Formats: sequence, structure tokens, C-alpha cells
Amino acid sequence: MPALAVDAAAPVAHAFASCVDAARFPGGAPMLMVPTAAADSTTTTATKQEWSADLSSALYNVDGWGAPYFFVNDDGDVAVRPHGAATLAGQEIDLAKVVAKATGPRAAGGLGLPLPLLVRFPDVLRHRVESLNAAFDYAVRSTGYGSRYQGVYPVKCNQDRHVVEDIVEFGEPFRFGLEAGSKPELLLAMSCLAARGNPDALLVCNGYKDDAYVSLALTARAMGLNAVVVLEQEEELHIVVDASRRLGIRPVIGMRAKLRTKHAGHFGSTSGEKGKFGLNAAQILSVVGKLKSLGMLDCLQLLHFHIGSQIPTTALLSDGVGEAAQIYCELARLGAGMRVIDVGGGLGIDYDGTHSAQTDMSVAYSLEEYAAAVVAAVGRVCDRRNVPHPVICSESGRALVSHHSVLVFEAFSASSASAASPHPMVDTAFLLEGLADDCRADYRNLMAAAMRGDYDTCALYADQLKRRCADQFKEGLLALEHLAAVDGLCEIVARGVGCGDAPRTYHVNLSVFTSLPDTWAIGQQFPILPIQRLRERPAVDGVLSDLTCDSDGKLTRFIGGRDSLPLHELPGHGVGGYYLGMFLGGAYQEALGGLHNLFGGPSVVRVAQSDGPHCFAVTRAAPGPSCADVLRAMQHEPEVMFQVLKQRTDDATAAALAGAFGAMPYLVFDADVSGGECSGMSSDSEGSAAGAAEEEDEEEWEFMRGLTV
Ligand SMILES: Cc1ncc(COP(=O)(O)O)c(C=O)c1O
Repeated sequence: MPALAVDAAAPVAHAFASCVDAARFPGGAPMLMVPTAAADSTTTTATKQEWSADLSSALYNVDGWGAPYFFVNDDGDVAVRPHGAATLAGQEIDLAKVVAKATGPRAAGGLGLPLPLLVRFPDVLRHRVESLNAAFDYAVRSTGYGSRYQGVYPVKCNQDRHVVEDIVEFGEPFRFGLEAGSKPELLLAMSCLAARGNPDALLVCNGYKDDAYVSLALTARAMGLNAVVVLEQEEELHIVVDASRRLGIRPVIGMRAKLRTKHAGHFGSTSGEKGKFGLNAAQILSVVGKLKSLGMLDCLQLLHFHIGSQIPTTALLSDGVGEAAQIYCELARLGAGMRVIDVGGGLGIDYDGTHSAQTDMSVAYSLEEYAAAVVAAVGRVCDRRNVPHPVICSESGRALVSHHSVLVFEAFSASSASAASPHPMVDTAFLLEGLADDCRADYRNLMAAAMRGDYDTCALYADQLKRRCADQFKEGLLALEHLAAVDGLCEIVARGVGCGDAPRTYHVNLSVFTSLPDTWAIGQQFPILPIQRLRERPAVDGVLSDLTCDSDGKLTRFIGGRDSLPLHELPGHGVGGYYLGMFLGGAYQEALGGLHNLFGGPSVVRVAQSDGPHCFAVTRAAPGPSCADVLRAMQHEPEVMFQVLKQRTDDATAAALAGAFGAMPYLVFDADVSGGECSGMSSDSEGSAAGAAEEEDEEEWEFMRGLTV
């Protein structure tokens, strides 16, 4: 680019001051050497008054994705209606109060649990189970459907013991069952149904199977459980037949059909003719033929399909269910003992609250509309084919468990705001004296463009100058001081041309990989918002950066197509107390989460609605995995590690070391909630560590598990 003849020594601020443009330089031209004054406190007060809880609710679209369970209360906190729309005014649970109770110091009546914190609401889970069953029941009764709905919960969505036990217990009146996709899932489903399930509840055994899996499923039948072995592949038939002969247990067999109906979204990759699972038409006929020749066609009683999670519309759903119902009728015609049509999962969740079918983040129907579409499609096809209406089973997972938990985590520091932070100090004469000719030319051109008000050119030259200087620094031709001066200059230019207002980065005490793995893996977005201070205008645009040493450990896409999240100024730097909630994450995230950087899961509380003063009771509380736990998960032996390290230190330091093994891996900001008591190390044993006797060391490794309060 030709160099313009301008005064090479013209100070940058002067150049920008001469072209003040109210739109681009809202506070006037940036001035060199003069730090910007901090935000005026009267302005802040006025802003607070202009804002309201209702405006926050609208800003984060809480009613869109949260109804009927989550809302912003008059105190500006996120609150929970544990019984959905049937919740009475005095039964609403303030989430900020739950967090205060769970994390507050024990001396003050808190539970001393470290963050992050997963808050489970079993009442919400009950409401989901009841709502799903009520929706199908209504669809069945209102259309005169000739059979009933009898669903199962696919445990893969959340295998947490209490979640599964709750669902089985709440579902007992509806004969609600479980679906398993692996041997351990089958074991937990068997024991849970045996202990508290309805005797008629289905136990649907999906997933690829070997002899051990099939034998387990047949054993479940021998125990009186209503287990159905669903063939995912034609080859599984001989495993079922052999195991059945060996054990002398007659199986109930299901078959997964590979439908032609294709769900186009991300979650639809399992559907369509090229889908990963299921039998095509020829394979279905082959299985029927083999079962017939073995005299076992009566064993084939269930037809299953799954066109993918988050089915976007009832039109697609009806299409898929209709196709499956035709296969069901064909199987009945061929002589199979058909009784159940299992429509799989796919009942969607409105993560962004838009009630639309445009993205995987939402679906364009309600629970009731989903149920009505399924019942109508099955009924229509069976009526046409004169086939008795089957029991309708669904494997709805996401829709059952997504709402029941909220992940609460803290933001503890934030990058400084470019508008509020002092302008960089750039000594122009010093800068120029250090620059090579080509860089000086860039500087002159930059100044000339600034004088003309040509901001695009200005930005181009600033970028070129920065790159050239970086190259020269790498070659050892530029001193660090000059590099810093150039960076400062370019920052002034960026602010001047209006590119300096990038969202601020809020650092959060969380691992995205552990707690929100789908945000990293598949770009899933969950509603995230501060759970308090919602009567204050969230005046900062921020992105969230987690604790892991990984550039992917961040959240930069938010519901509503946002690249940043409206947030408040933090109460301070390096302190806790600014709580964010991640909602609708009750499905899949817990089991998919990994141990990247050895950050384990969160503390967990189970919170039930109660008639006490705060409307809630914490019925279970447990700290998350300690450093020792996560080390053990990677085959380390924390006890041995401790002994090795202890030999190199004194007793007092050994006690601190023991505390480090026993604490959760996350940051702790409040001295009251750090240390052994809340970290999984019993307080008695912490005191005894200083004694360093063998027995006392034993005690040191007694971690509290499943602390119940
Ligand atoms: C076979 C099967 N059933 C049920 C589900 C649960 O689906 P959803 O969570 O969408 O209800 C899945 C999940 O993908 C699945 O693969």
C-alpha cells in the first residue's frame, strides 16, 4: 500500500480525537495516557431501578423453555414449581435459597457442600412421569383406542440410582418399566424393577447382545420380570434361541425395525435405511421364517423402532409411527404373537423455548400433541388392517429427566471490560524509534486513515502492523517493550473503530467436559442464566470459560442464537457468590461426562417440596468425587501416594496433604466451605492426621459417602 505523507510522530489519540464520531466513539475519542474513569455509581443505581425480574425473564426466555417448572420470582431469583402448573404459591422453591443451604457453612446451618452443585428435584421427576402417562391416557380415552399406553424409561439417559428408583416408584401405578442397552444397565433395571416395580412393567432389553446379555434377560423372565429381548440384528436370533434352550426359559422376543422414515436432524443418524440399528424388510421376514420353523413365532410379541432423539414435528412422528404400525400389522398377519408397539424415544425438549422445528434445540409440539399423534397413527393403521390395537410403549428419556435437575456453578473472575479498563499507555515517539521502515509506513497509513475517518482502512493497517511486528519479534529484531507498545496502539485503534467490544470472558468453576459434555461434543445448547440478581440489569455480555487447560473448555453459543450471555458485574475478582444455573441438563450429561483434567462430578443434593418455612427439604446430600476418587479412577492409588509424599514432610504438612486428597478438585473461594468437613474427609480424622500413626492414617481415608441430612 502506498505510504501517505503524514506526520509520522502524530500521537495516535490526536488522530482519533480529530475524527470523533459519536456513533463509533460513544465516549469521545480514546485518549492516550489517560485511564478512563470508572463507571459512575449513580448511573449504575439508575440502571438497577429501570430493570425488573420480568424483564430478566423475557431476556432469558425463561417462560419459553422453563414453563411450567422454572420462573423468575419477585426477589429476582430463579425459582422452581416442583409440581408444574399444579404448584401452589407457597410451594415454590427459590433456587438461590437451596444453594445457600447446600453450600453454606455448617456452623450456620448449611451443608458445607462445595460447588459445582447439581440440584435434583424428585417432585419434578414425578410430575414428568405423571404428565407423560396422563397425556397418553387422554389420547387413548379421547379417541377410543382399544388398548393402553405402557411406557419404559431408557436408563441410558440418566442411570443415577435415585433417578431410576424414583421413576420406577412414581411409574408403578402406570405399569411403567425400564429399558436397558447394556449388561450393567440390565442388572440395575432388573434389581430396581424387582424391588419396587409393577409386576406388569416391561423390561425392554435393547442394544447389541451376546450370550451373557441374553441369558441375563432370560433369567429376568424366570424371576417374574416382564423382560423382552429386542433383536437389533438378525444374528442375535440364534443367541436367543440357544440361550433359551440351554436355560429352559421361553423368551419374549421383540424386533427393532429399520424404518425408511428419516429424521434429518443431528439425532436422526440412527434412522433411515442406512441407519446403524434394526432389521430391514428382508431380515424381518427371515427372522419370522426361522421362528416359525422353530415353533417359536408366538414368542415374537413386540415391534420396536427409534427414529432418533428430538423428533422435530408430529408430521415426521406420524410418518414413522404409521410405517412401523404397517410392519406391526404385517407381523400379525404372518402369525407372530404381536402385543406391543414400542415407538422408541424422540419425544423432544424445547431447549431454546422457541417451540419450532428449525433446529435440534427445539420441537414444534407439546407432550399432549406427541401422545395424540402416536395413538392416532397406530390406531388408524390397525383399524385399516383390522388388527387389534396393541399396547403402545414409548422409550421417552430426554423428556422425562431433562427438567429434574439444575447444575449450579460459580463465575469467579472476568476479563476486564475494554470500555471500562484503562486505555493502554502508548508513547508514540518511543514506539516509532523502535520500528523498522515497513512498520513505520503502516503506522503513517494508519494515522492518515484515522484522520480521514476511514476506519476500515485503519483497522487493516493496524492488523498489518501487528503481524509485521510479531514476525520481527520472532526474528529477534524487536524488543518486548516495542511489541507491547504496538499491541497497545492496536487496542486503541480497535476500540476507536468499534471492534474493541468483544464479549468479556467469565471464568467459571466448572468443567464443560465433565458437566456439559454435549455442548462440546455436538454443539448442544442449554439454557444458562444467573440464578439471582435478576432484578438488576445484566449489563455485561460475557462468554464462559471453564477450569480445564483446554481451549475447547468454553461456552460461546447460547440459546436464542446468541454469541454471548447477558451477565452482571461480578462482586469481586477471585471470589465466589455469582451463581449461574444450567437448566434442562438432566438427560445424558451425567453419564457422558468425562474426567478431563481430572475434574470429577459436582456435589449433589436432592430437594423435595415440603411445607416448612422455605418450602423445601434437602433429603440427600453428597459431595462430588474427591481428588482421591478421580485419581483412583485412573488407577492411581491415593493411599500409597499419600504415604510416599508423607515421608518427605512434617506432620502438619501431611495433614494438609491429606486434606488435598480428600477435597474436590474444583476451586474453593470461601474458607468456611473448604477443608475436610465438606470435602469428603471426616473432620475427626483430619485432626488425627497430624499424629501420623498407622491407624490414624487409615481413618484419614474414610470419606463420607452419600451423606444424608
Ligand atoms: C433405542 C433408544 N430408545 C430410547 C432412546 C431415548 O431417546 P430420547 O431421549 O430422545 O427419548 C434412545 C436414545 O437415543 C435410543 O437409542
